Parts: sequence; structure tokens; C-alpha cells
Amino acid sequence: MARTSGNKVVVIGIGAVGISYAFALLNQGGCDELAVIDLNEKRASAEVRDLRHGILYAPTPTRVYQGSYADCADADIVCICAGAAQQPGETRLDLIDNNLKVFHSIVGEVMKTGFDGIFLIATNPVDVLSYATWQFSGLPKERVIGSGTILDTARLCNCLGKAFDVAPSSIDAHMIGEHGDSVIAAWSTANIAGMPLKEALQSMPDGEARMRKIHADVRDAAYAIIEGKGATYYGIAMGLARITQAVLHNQHVVLTVSALLEGQYGEQDVYIGVPAVISRTGITRIIEKPLDADEAAQFARSADILRGYQQKVAA
Ligand code: LAC
Repeated sequence: MARTSGNKVVVIGIGAVGISYAFALLNQGGCDELAVIDLNEKRASAEVRDLRHGILYAPTPTRVYQGSYADCADADIVCICAGAAQQPGETRLDLIDNNLKVFHSIVGEVMKTGFDGIFLIATNPVDVLSYATWQFSGLPKERVIGSGTILDTARLCNCLGKAFDVAPSSIDAHMIGEHGDSVIAAWSTANIAGMPLKEALQSMPDGEARMRKIHADVRDAAYAIIEGKGATYYGIAMGLARITQAVLHNQHVVLTVSALLEGQYGEQDVYIGVPAVISRTGITRIIEKPLDADEAAQFARSADILRGYQQKVAA
């Protein structure tokens, strides 16, 4: 279909995450065109019709349609949600062999169209698949963004918001590292309007135990939800939509996404969750948060784990 307006997004893979992302974008407005691609064309057609019927009640009209790879040619963002999702008892890293094959095929098809926009990666293990997309596509690193720890950070701010009775948006705290079992809570810089939260928590009864529990609850949140309903999708979809809005509207906002490190945090050649400035051109700057010795050691371990899996990309 010929391009008819400003912002265009293509979502590839409309399992629970992909279709929730589409639903979030339509309800937030600001996306002029949304093409939906899935192997199950019958389902894609039905999902598009269902979404279209709600457009009257959306803040801005999005032209949503069932697309094909050709629609990637002039897209601003291609979001890949396709691939196997974690099953109960599986880690995100367990998905790598299957999803690497899926990504090699998808990224190849997208690049054949002459796509010259930004990849947004959601499929797990998202850090390794972001690295793979960068390698397979040949696009500049700043135009391959993984969802990274954007959801982990939201989960942390949700927990701390409850603990201190403030809105999550008033919590300045970040999860960094792997979007997975080695994720790190950057306690030493967490604050509310400059009030240090590490000290505030440690002054509470069982403060250290409380901090450990918050970290574990955030790290293991997906496992608990998967046990309960089979998959997670609303939180990640809202995180993907947040990154999308930041790109489409050139917001220069800091979000914890999966980005390629080239010396930042003392690490090289690894896609990993860090605070980064997101704008129309993708990742415009990586923010090097001060880390204490323990956080730095955990971050180095997380980077080593991811680099180990990234070697499968070259294999
Ligand atoms: C989660 C998935 C997106 O953490 O990895 O819910």
C-alpha cells in the first residue's frame, strides 16, 4: 500500500505481545499507519478488523492494515515480536536457538525491502536477539533497539512506588543488565526527588531483606505471571509503545533499553539493558549511571553471560 501519511510502524508477529503492542499504540494515538504481519494470515486479517472497529474511540486515527514485508520498505519502525515465548520452567536464554533462526529469516526479508528505519526488538532473549538483528541487518547500532530492561524498570518503580506510597513516575530507579535472571537493581542511585532510597529502605525494619525481595520479585515477575496465565504481554507491550512514541515524536527521553556498548560501563561488543536517550534517530546517547562496586561486578557478570550467548550469532 502506498504511504499516505507521517509515522509508520510495522509489527511482525502478532502473538499476545505483538497484538497487545498494536492495541496499545492505537489507544495512545500518534501512530499514523500500523501494518500487521503474521504467518497466520487468517488471524492477522481478523485482528486488523477487530482493531479497526475501535478507531472511532482512539485519540487519533491510525490506518491499521494487514501488511506484507513490502510494507517495511518505508516504515519508520519495524517491531519484531515473532518467535517462541517462554514456557513454564524455561528461561529466556533457553529460547535462543529457535528464535535465532526465526530472526535470521525475518531480518533478511525486511532488509530485502530496502528498509532504512529503526528495528525495535521484543522477542526473548531480547538482548541477544538485538545483537543478532544488528549483525544480520548491517544497520547502524543506534537503529537497533531492544526492549531491554524497560519492563524490569517499570516493575521496580511499581514496587518502590507501593513501598513509599508515591506514583511509579516519581521513582527515579533503574534495572540494568540482562533482561533475564542476571538483571541488576541499581540501588545506589535510586531516589525520590533526590532522597536516596537505599538508605531509606535500609533504615526500615528488615530493610536489607526488603531490598533483596524487591529485586527478586522484579527479576522473577515473568515466571510468576507465566505460571498464572501462560504468558506476559500487557507490560511489555506498554514498554514497547513507550519506546515507539519516543522515536516517532523525537522525545529525547531516557529509557532503559538494550543497546550496544562500545566501552561504556567498561564493556565492549554486547547488547545489554542500560539507560539511553531515545529520539527519532534511535539511541542518541548511552547514559553511564554511577554504579557501586557490587553493582559494577553484577553488571560485568551479566555482560559476560550475554556475550557468551551472542557467540551463537556468529556461529
Ligand atoms: C517479561 C517478558 C517480556 O519480562 O520477558 O514479562
